[in-house]
Amino acid sequence: MDLLENLVIPATTQHLALLKVILVLAMLIFLPFFGMLLGGTGFSVIFNAYGRKIKNKLFIRLAKDIIDKLAINRFVGLGLGVIPMLAITFCYAQLMFEVKVISVSLLFVGTLLLAIAINFIYSYQNTFQIESLIETFKDISGLKKHELDTKIPEDIADYEFDLMNTNSNSGLYGFVLLLLSGFFFAGGTTIALYSDRYQDFQNIAQVFLSGATFFNFFFLIVMSIAVSGSAILFFFFSWQGGLHDMDREFSNFVKKIGGNIAFTGAALLPVFLFLSFLVIPDIALSGSVFTYTFLAFVSILFLCNFLYAVIKNSEMKYIGAAFYLVIVSFGFIIMKNQAAFGTASVKHLVAINLKAEELEKEKKSKTINTAGVDGEEIYNRICAACHKFDVKLVGPPYQQTVPKYTGDVKKLASFILNPVKVSPDYPPMPSPGLKPKEADAVAKFIMEKVSGK
Ligand code: HEC
Repeated sequence: MDLLENLVIPATTQHLALLKVILVLAMLIFLPFFGMLLGGTGFSVIFNAYGRKIKNKLFIRLAKDIIDKLAINRFVGLGLGVIPMLAITFCYAQLMFEVKVISVSLLFVGTLLLAIAINFIYSYQNTFQIESLIETFKDISGLKKHELDTKIPEDIADYEFDLMNTNSNSGLYGFVLLLLSGFFFAGGTTIALYSDRYQDFQNIAQVFLSGATFFNFFFLIVMSIAVSGSAILFFFFSWQGGLHDMDREFSNFVKKIGGNIAFTGAALLPVFLFLSFLVIPDIALSGSVFTYTFLAFVSILFLCNFLYAVIKNSEMKYIGAAFYLVIVSFGFIIMKNQAAFGTASVKHLVAINLKAEELEKEKKSKTINTAGVDGEEIYNRICAACHKFDVKLVGPPYQQTVPKYTGDVKKLASFILNPVKVSPDYPPMPSPGLKPKEADAVAKFIMEKVSGK
């Protein structure tokens, strides 16, 4: 991604710390929503196809309501999906400045795929709404059921046929693209952990060679199942009092299906969390990785407990708690992943920081304006009476004293303008009475000479 490489500049330690915070926040927004979108689309598409096949209205209605509630709308898809993922990509581009590995490219492709997927998903969502509009229209047309087939104008029938085609196709396309996007996301974040093997991953296609990527992709799917199941329960029964137009039959149906999805996902989470430990490379392991894994584990156990109460004892009051616990568990899992990434990239981050400081200094010495003033001339005229570069005169040799200014021309110039007492071995240096610009020029001259430029 040359484009991204050109956009990022090496960041200093403070900036890197800020980036890590932004990264965690973006992940906290992205992962739960992505999970809801992936699970919501997947289950909706499956229930829709199944419901139409066995002509069961409950499944079709569930499919419609799931995609309505979990995907919310296009703006949310953009705001909680595409934009956070783009932010994540940029953070990785910045944190992996000048590292030659495919992680950032994978994340970028994943973001593009997500943007396309979102288009399909919301047009899938739309078809349900138009379909129910047509149904209402038929209801109020006063035609009897057996008359509908013959009396409905042909273009409406055609339109309905197209609509149903779009419905099944765009839902499926959206789902497949989302899966791909998730795979690329898993690839980008997983490969970034293998900082000792970056040279093995240079071509995007190599993501398919990474076993750890496949594992983390399945982990992502399990997370999606857990969060979308809990979200179904939450948005149908708890959020703003739940859906109001559910009859008893539908409500029991949703409770059973949503509860089963949520519990299956939540029960698989600890297994995957434990196994995910085995695929973290040694170079990324640290105490905080263990701590966050442990915390994630505890919060998932609580989650399972609450879900169990909801399913077995119908204690609907725990639905909210369960949903928030999924998010908290996600938070710990994200912290664990980022702790691992932080450890894996520690060496590289130090290098970025050094580079940033160098750039900063270079910029500083370039911005010092010494035009029209000759530093060398000033040195010969004033300083040379007391200073040489290599031997001691009245004052110390520059080669001894100047290196401690480590390239900071401004700092040296300010000493020259107003000398202060430094060493007990020498008398104090009298103020040479220069103008600031002259001090800059002579400071720059002796600094360049000492560093041999
Ligand atoms: C009259 C003699 C004299 C002149 C002229 C003089 N210096 Fe010095 N300079 C000294 C002495 C003595 C010290 C040691 C001061 C101390 O250690 O407290 C010193 C120290 C320094 C140091 C070391 C500061 C440090 O942090 O250790 C620098 C750099 C320096 N002078 C630069 C200059 C420059 C540039 C000029 C010309 C513009 C200049 N000096 C002119 C006598 C002089």
